[in-house]
Amino acid sequence: MDIVYFILLLLLFFIVIAILAVSVVFIYFTVSCGFMHSSPPVPSCGKVKKSMMEDAASYLAEKKGLVVMDLGSGWGSLLLPLAKKFPEHIFIGIEYGFIPYVVSCWRARKLKNLRFKKENFFESDISNADMIFLFLLTSTMEKLSKKCIAEIKPSAIAYANRFPIQGIKPTKKVSFGSDYETYYIYEF
Ligand SMILES: C[S@@+](CC[C@H](N)C(=O)[O-])C[C@H]1O[C@@H](n2cnc3c(N)ncnc32)[C@H](O)[C@@H]1O
Repeated sequence: MDIVYFILLLLLFFIVIAILAVSVVFIYFTVSCGFMHSSPPVPSCGKVKKSMMEDAASYLAEKKGLVVMDLGSGWGSLLLPLAKKFPEHIFIGIEYGFIPYVVSCWRARKLKNLRFKKENFFESDISNADMIFLFLLTSTMEKLSKKCIAEIKPSAIAYANRFPIQGIKPTKKVSFGSDYETYYIYEF
């Protein structure tokens, strides 16, 4: 009887923990997406991520000492593999969400050429970036496009996943079907 009681208690404990975890994730997404009108920390994925990463890797392979930035770096999943593969370049992720920022820092703890900054990218200096990644909502891109056009240096390259930089023509549009499977390359 005692053991049954213990198992039931243990089960209850795990159910409560699971409910709490789901609530935290739900609240986090609602707050970051709804109330703050910003992009949720959804990572780039699938064919778009693979193709973007391959293109970026072939660009980085030919150069040395570049600065690569991810504006709204989420969980760090774009920069981590690139930073591991290219120790000769510097990688900077800008993320204002506390949880994704902490997770990214932990994931990057062994990499000397990758760091994450907890800041609002509208206030970041992006003028020394040679390569920039963007995956943000249209409303954010509207505002950020002006900053990109004004501050990104000539010769830099930018990858915009799904939502284009507004006000300039992409050098290349890569699509695997719908808008959800499309990204844009800009050579400044
Ligand atoms: C859709 S995720 C993209 C993650 C990553 N770049 C990728 O492609 O896998 C967008 C991220 O941008 C962050 N973000 C949105 N507005 C921001 C701002 N003004 N400053 C810094 N981060 C921002 C969000 O918190 C979110 O984690």
